[in-house]
Amino acid sequence: MRIAIINGPNLNLLGKRETDIYGIMSFEKFLDGMKVKFPGVEFSYYQSNVEGELINEIQRVGYSYDGIVLNPAGYTHTSVAIGDAIAAIKTPVVEVHISNVHAREDFRKLSHVSGKSAGSIFGLGLKGYELAVEYLLSLK
Ligand code: DQA
Repeated sequence: MRIAIINGPNLNLLGKRETDIYGIMSFEKFLDGMKVKFPGVEFSYYQSNVEGELINEIQRVGYSYDGIVLNPAGYTHTSVAIGDAIAAIKTPVVEVHISNVHAREDFRKLSHVSGKSAGSIFGLGLKGYELAVEYLLSLK
């Protein structure tokens, strides 16, 4: 079982960035815990601050992996092209947001990704990534 985790812009700063919203743990540390929790899953992890690089990665894993957990961060609300990439691939995508995007500014309520994804999780902190993996495992 191969699952790709793809994080968008500024998520490389998790643990340092707006910690009241996003928490104090780095994603690398969190991922170490995920690998222990899901020993049967082969994870790939990719983070970029560049829209086209995220699209390249979605295309790279999107025909061979069993699932994608995607947090497009700020591009969620602006990127038609990331939505198109999800629609183009075969691998199911679960959209994850650490914060509750519906309880924040209005511009965060628009997602170009939700309608193309198998489902979306928001507001549950880093736990959302674990729940997304559990869902993708349930498809097998
Ligand atoms: C985010 C929510 C986005 O609105 C924001 O731009 C992010 C992170 C989240 O995980 O809560 O960078 O995707």
